[in-house]
Amino acid sequence: MSRVYNFSAGPAVLPEEVLKEAQEEMLDYRGCGMSVMEMSHRSKVFQNIIDEAEADLRDLIGIPSNYKVLFLQGGASLQFSMIPMNLMKNGVADYIVTGQWAKKAYAEAQKYGKANKIASSEDKTFSYIPDCSDLPISPDADYVYICENNTIYGTKYKKLPNTKGKTLVADVSSCFLSEPVNVSDYGIIYGGVQKNIGPAGMVISIIRDDLITDDVLPGTPTMMKFKTHADAGSLYNTPNCYCIYMCGKVFKWLKKMGGLEVMKQRNEEKAKLLYDFLDQSKLFKGTVVPEDRSLMNVPFITGNADLDAKFVKESKEAGLENLKGHRTVGGMRASIYNAMPKEGVETLVAFMKKFEEENL
Ligand SMILES: Cc1ncc(COP(=O)(O)O)c(C=O)c1O
Repeated sequence: MSRVYNFSAGPAVLPEEVLKEAQEEMLDYRGCGMSVMEMSHRSKVFQNIIDEAEADLRDLIGIPSNYKVLFLQGGASLQFSMIPMNLMKNGVADYIVTGQWAKKAYAEAQKYGKANKIASSEDKTFSYIPDCSDLPISPDADYVYICENNTIYGTKYKKLPNTKGKTLVADVSSCFLSEPVNVSDYGIIYGGVQKNIGPAGMVISIIRDDLITDDVLPGTPTMMKFKTHADAGSLYNTPNCYCIYMCGKVFKWLKKMGGLEVMKQRNEEKAKLLYDFLDQSKLFKGTVVPEDRSLMNVPFITGNADLDAKFVKESKEAGLENLKGHRTVGGMRASIYNAMPKEGVETLVAFMKKFEEENL
């Protein structure tokens, strides 16, 4: 067996320990004589799996009791519609557009009401987070929407926007569980799990109780109503059982590692290795303003598309996979999620140094 260092933005690297444990339990989950993949979602054994996953997640983040945790399908992208359908009571919402994902969410919301773009960083290719201390928040806005970590551009809010009392909704797909968060600052925190938590195919949405009601937009499908899933404990229909099981294992791994404060320290250390190298490099350059740099996604360029392509090819040959930047921006991007070991980043930096010496 030989494993590579996988810098994919998602689906992404998972803790090896977790994969091995799943492998051991593949044919016979703890004496059941079947795999979790083969098990009824109505069984007692599966109920224990989902209950334990939720309890561990609540414990890890410190989720207050007035918030529900939903395990949903349809990717983070389906939340772009579910959020306005469930929350736009006044038909108004404010969006801060800091990248492709926020832009898509903003475009989707326009189908359901008046979505206002109250700030954007598109003028400089989304390479920074706009000042959000005094934005023109709409007096009747049902919520203010952000994408907290911008996977493609590598920016992250270091301070949440001043929403002037309005409900904050955040897509945290690419920074989920990478550091502690204060859940009470948000109405909804949601993210696809395929980056920092588990296999693809599920979204976890943490929603304040009062936002889960029957008062949704007319025509909202049953499956798109938060209340449908909240009332059924995420078991209204067959959920992504295996994904819930894997995420549960990652939550246990995170707890064993010391929790989110320790993850933050580890992530800061790893990101510093890479950013420090980029800041002194004569060949490579980071694309984000230093104060808004993400700890999770680190885009960089040489400024020469041919050299970028050479780097991606040679790094792959050296066992460093998926360093090509997003198809819409080019260059390179290293995604260094929780499960990326420090040695992976050290190996990448050593490779970059060597590449620089050979190509400068
Ligand atoms: C921040 C962010 N939001 C949303 C998405 C879309 O996720 P999904 O493919 O689960 O719909 C992505 C995917 O890469 C993302 O990075």
